[in-house]
Amino acid sequence: MENLERARNKLIVALDVPTVEEAENLIGRLGDDVSVYKIGLELVMAGGLELARRLIREGKQVFLDMKFLDIGHTVERAVANAAELGVTYLTIHGHDRKTLDAAVVGRGSSGMKLLAVTVLTNLTAADLEIQGNRLSPADLVLHRAQLARACGVDGIVASGQEADMVRREVGSDFLIVTPGIRLPGSALDDQQRVMTPDSAVAAGADLIVVGRPITRADDPADAARAFVAHIAAALERRSAT
Ligand code: C5P
Repeated sequence: MENLERARNKLIVALDVPTVEEAENLIGRLGDDVSVYKIGLELVMAGGLELARRLIREGKQVFLDMKFLDIGHTVERAVANAAELGVTYLTIHGHDRKTLDAAVVGRGSSGMKLLAVTVLTNLTAADLEIQGNRLSPADLVLHRAQLARACGVDGIVASGQEADMVRREVGSDFLIVTPGIRLPGSALDDQQRVMTPDSAVAAGADLIVVGRPITRADDPADAARAFVAHIAAALERRSAT
């Protein structure tokens, strides 16, 4: 039971739907099988912050995927307001020290976990060069993960493929959150490089983000339970080694 509870706290369901009404419908169907919800820009622009408040009041955890990037003062105040809201996880961009330092100040003693987005996964080496950046995507991910850690940020968002490399470099007390997770044999949707929950956990992921395999399932609660069971089994295997 305790193991399932632990696994449930590691499953983040992405509410990638256009309206709060659709999100609430989904949340209702998922009930006690999901504890953590990711609310991103689309939903925030359609009343998602009010939904976040309600979820927190109802005892759920919220991962607010805002990917903040601005001057320090603005980031600090925005992060402080997110902390006030009571969200558990908040994303910021991990480009520069000033943003990261400001986010850490804004978070204060709230306990909210700050997660840095290192390199957006839709960017290729050619896109980075256009930005004036000569590092490969993998080297830049590592560089920014180390910077985030040095600034006191709690973790990063990374693909399952990068999780292993980052984990080896940054050590254990740093959160790695991985999206692009699919159960063996299921549809990839538009994801290219997916991992199963088992391999993501084995590669060192602490939390996994799942969207469509749960939100578009005929029975979302049943799909969520399958993910939780896989995560629980992977955690057991990881602690046995
Ligand atoms: O539906 P699916 O499981 O592919 O959704 C994954 C979620 O994780 C989406 O909210 C997507 O925006 C997010 N994400 C991702 N890849 C990243 C970062 C975030 O798929 N590198």
